[in-house]
Amino acid sequence: MIEKLEYVYMPKNSLTFPPERLLLAPGPTNLHSRVLQALIAPILGHKDPRFLDIMDETAALLRYVFQTRNKVTLALPGTGGAGMEATLVNLLEPGDTVVVLDAGYFAARMVEIADRCRARVIVHQTEWGRAVDIDSLEAALQQAGRVKLVAAVHGETSTGVEHPIAEIARVAHAHGALLAVDAVPTLGGVWLPVDEWQIDICYSGSQKCLSAPPGLAPITVSEPAMQVIHQRKTKVQSWYHDLSILSRYWSRERVYHHTAPINMTYALREALVLIQEEGLETVIQRIGVLSAGVLAGLQAMGLELFSDPAHRLTTVVAVKTPTGIDEARVRATLLETFNIEISGGLGAYAGKLWRIGIMGHSARPRNLLAFLAALEMVLREQGHATEPGVGPRVACEVFSRT
Ligand SMILES: Cc1ncc(COP(=O)(O)O)c(C=O)c1O
Repeated sequence: MIEKLEYVYMPKNSLTFPPERLLLAPGPTNLHSRVLQALIAPILGHKDPRFLDIMDETAALLRYVFQTRNKVTLALPGTGGAGMEATLVNLLEPGDTVVVLDAGYFAARMVEIADRCRARVIVHQTEWGRAVDIDSLEAALQQAGRVKLVAAVHGETSTGVEHPIAEIARVAHAHGALLAVDAVPTLGGVWLPVDEWQIDICYSGSQKCLSAPPGLAPITVSEPAMQVIHQRKTKVQSWYHDLSILSRYWSRERVYHHTAPINMTYALREALVLIQEEGLETVIQRIGVLSAGVLAGLQAMGLELFSDPAHRLTTVVAVKTPTGIDEARVRATLLETFNIEISGGLGAYAGKLWRIGIMGHSARPRNLLAFLAALEMVLREQGHATEPGVGPRVACEVFSRT
């Protein structure tokens, strides 16, 4: 036994202290000190009545941010991808038709999952950077025949575009289809009234606008969608993601399904309380103003918006990297010299875009001004000189207009 120890990596001390970064990529975000405190609160057993109360409170707070009365509203163990997987595996059976609205990087995953469900997948393509066109969607649905599900991404993190979910819902329902919405980068940061827009199933991730650590996927399911799940001819192919079992775990029945991620649930609950204290509408308005300010600052520095301005997603500002600038080197310098993280482009836009997250606790004027000032210095090093201080100054003007 002893000689085996030499193969085991022994850290010098038992705690790892990573550097403190300013997180301005589209998630994860920096955490409020109350959320951090929640993570180190005493752990309870997952059947402890106090913890069961915390689950109920978390579900109630999730209903608040989803703007829904859906009974089945819970936090899945797993990241946003678990929400996507649960949505599709529960609603699709072999041979069902699903129309996936593909307008960026994340819809491709929906296609992959739906394909594994052995569904008939129709991909409705929209150019990256543009919003789904309702007339062409209507025409596609007419051609598709009987469609069980339309799957859409509310905010495309890869392109910085917000898709018109209210209209997509109208068209999907007129065609007799259910609507599933990915709200990973939008829940708690962009207006998304699930009940008013009649979204049948909607999921998100804990680490973006909700500003908790990654690891939980909030999801809400309408009555009609639950009925479809209960009336399936085949079992849901994933036992772990089966919403008919999970919903009983999150109901008063408490039918054991998994050991809840206890401290993560505390953290999510606290992050949701913070949103409730500020007020959902106020949070959304704050994100809107800060996003407009950052974009104005970047434009004043000569950078160009990538997304269609009429459908710009406030929580992700996507700008083109100027010609002659090494995109990845700029991000690396921001990280190494200034401890600031932003993202680059995905897929065909790798190396061509920067994406800045305006989310949760990271979305504060001082953070965004620090980023704009740092970016100016890094860009100057690479020969892209602008009027000194113009980015932060212009952003400040927008911030202070409200
Ligand atoms: C629109 C969208 N959907 C799904 C995901 C996947 O979420 P996660 O990385 O939390 O699994 C992301 C992640 O950024 C996303 O932006």
